[in-house]
Amino acid sequence: MSLKKIKGENKKMTNKIIKVGSFFSGIGSPEKALERLKKEGYIKDYCLEFFSEIDKNAIKSYCAIHNVDESLNIGNIKSVKGEELPYCDIWIGGFPCQDISCAGNMKGFDFQSSTRSSLGWEMIRLLKEVKVKPKVIIFENVENITSKKFTKTLNLFKNDLTDLGYFLYDKVLDARDYGIPQMRRRYFLIAFNREVDFNFPSPLDVHYIVADFLNKTVEEKYYLSSEKCKYNDDKVYFESKKNQEYTYEINLNKFKNGGVCGIDHSCNFNQSRRLYSSKGNIPTLIASNTTEHCKLVVEE
Ligand SMILES: C[S@@+](CC[C@H](N)C(=O)[O-])C[C@H]1O[C@@H](n2cnc3c(N)ncnc32)[C@H](O)[C@@H]1O
Repeated sequence: MSLKKIKGENKKMTNKIIKVGSFFSGIGSPEKALERLKKEGYIKDYCLEFFSEIDKNAIKSYCAIHNVDESLNIGNIKSVKGEELPYCDIWIGGFPCQDISCAGNMKGFDFQSSTRSSLGWEMIRLLKEVKVKPKVIIFENVENITSKKFTKTLNLFKNDLTDLGYFLYDKVLDARDYGIPQMRRRYFLIAFNREVDFNFPSPLDVHYIVADFLNKTVEEKYYLSSEKCKYNDDKVYFESKKNQEYTYEINLNKFKNGGVCGIDHSCNFNQSRRLYSSKGNIPTLIASNTTEHCKLVVEE
């Protein structure tokens, strides 16, 4: 989908090359957004000044995706010295969410608490150390950071940014409202070094389903065999390729409506038991549960 649909009041063309510093870079999805802004003519160009990541696979992926050298990685944020950072217009930091997410143990992100999520405060330390502060900082985390449990810490975090001279805008956005058929609610905190007339983009009037994004040709091995299925009223049961039992139960009426439409009886985890219809949205994929993928029912 074109970004032109999101432009609204926030669209401002800049002729400048935007210097970007990325923390907790992962695979660099916000950087991908910058690439689209450039492609669609909203910015002239951007330049990655550095990224900071410690996971070796993420580093390799980041370099391949953004076509940059590993030498651009400044490594563990804890060892970074603010005074040595080059000037950037924007800093981006989707800091670790494990201790904030309701899918984890919610130890929190208190300052100096040594949880992984408390690493977000390292960006505040760097802001205090850096010679020239960035004009804009974009933080991102899970929606649960706005829950009562974390209000105090989040307010302290925001107060520090305000004390550093930033003007703050924050909101929870859901990917479903912006053309992605995935329920993914994320908290965005944007800090500007001056007062600006900023509005988060309004939800779009577009409604995609998962099927719109699937490959049209998929190898046969990825499908369950319809030769080995049995029907019972509005339900159909498929044999698992592994254990020759009727483990997949699909409700055909629910399939038509999208959402959860069946059960994988062989699976013990509640969330991973669910089969989702490609005619609707899928939930947020669980990053830590790598052996059990989101199971999708497609029409053939
Ligand atoms: C929530 S993910 C960020 C994902 C990222 N926004 C993206 O688009 O892929 C957090 C990332 O922080 C990285 N990380 C964790 N501890 C770090 C540290 N001490 N220094 C730098 N990166 C770290 C993790 O490896 C992980 O990739």
